[in-house]
Amino acid sequence: MMKIAQTIDAIRAAREEYGLESVGLVPTMGYLHEGHLELVRRARKENDRVIVTIYVNPKQFGPSEDLSRYPRDMEHDLELLSNENVDTVFAPSDEAMYPADYQTTVIVTQVTQPLEGARRPTHFEGVTTVVTKLFNLCRPTRAYFGQKDAQQVAVLRQMVRDLNFNLEIVVCPTVREKDGLALSSRNKYLTAEQRAAAPALHQSLRAATVLWAQGERNSDTLRAAMLDILSAVPSARVDYVSAANPTTLQEYSDTVAAGQGILFSMAVFFGQTRLIDNVLLPPGAE
Ligand code: PAJ
Repeated sequence: MMKIAQTIDAIRAAREEYGLESVGLVPTMGYLHEGHLELVRRARKENDRVIVTIYVNPKQFGPSEDLSRYPRDMEHDLELLSNENVDTVFAPSDEAMYPADYQTTVIVTQVTQPLEGARRPTHFEGVTTVVTKLFNLCRPTRAYFGQKDAQQVAVLRQMVRDLNFNLEIVVCPTVREKDGLALSSRNKYLTAEQRAAAPALHQSLRAATVLWAQGERNSDTLRAAMLDILSAVPSARVDYVSAANPTTLQEYSDTVAAGQGILFSMAVFFGQTRLIDNVLLPPGAE
């Protein structure tokens, strides 16, 4: 039977029971799709115990963002997780996570600054703070995150190194629809017309990947190739396109030096809905 913990005491008690067994942790904000479930399956394969957290963390949403309309379906989520043989679901209340006298924030100072961090200034401190709390409560052996959120992975890796969390971060590939659109809880906001246009993100990433594979190393050319495809979509408004160093996330300028990997990424608005996608080409993949 899958356990459902809703309080700090309950998740602590569940973790205590697992003792020295290996624990895989999958943090989510719920409204689960195949992308989340792939993380859960990987965790299930690699650990004695699996804890999934479902918590729409208010601290990582900006004042003008979609916290209040973020989609939720706890009943369906629990059914999906039970089918994956998850041991414990931690689904705390806001009061449990951030009681009235809550005061502490975890801040990673540099890798949080470009890309998503530049557009969503307090987003990553919300993520690092809540993930620190989840790490402390669940003391995982391994924690599972999706490549879909490339900067989130880079920020959390930095935090784990800096704060000496004794765990392994496992990154799973982005799960996509047949037409290339990366699965996201936010896809359900798209109108039919926007949904039809949304694979342009993936198409532009593919175009940049092909150029890179052909030896193109001018970062302006690579960014322009992505922008060309996105600009041809009338319903899309490009927030940014990026060709950056995969570790520091600093934007490349001019020619990318030999032996460097590259992270192509972008954020695009369709109406109010903001979609992100990326592809990581590590060094040696050239
Ligand atoms: P959420 O957006 O619910 O995503 C939970 C995890 O699922 C993240 O690691 C995310 O990268 C991964 N994921 C989402 N879509 C995916 C896809 N199409 N393919 C593969 N993995 C995918 O990310 C968060 O929640 C929050 O910031 C969280 C880490 C839970 C902290 O609140």
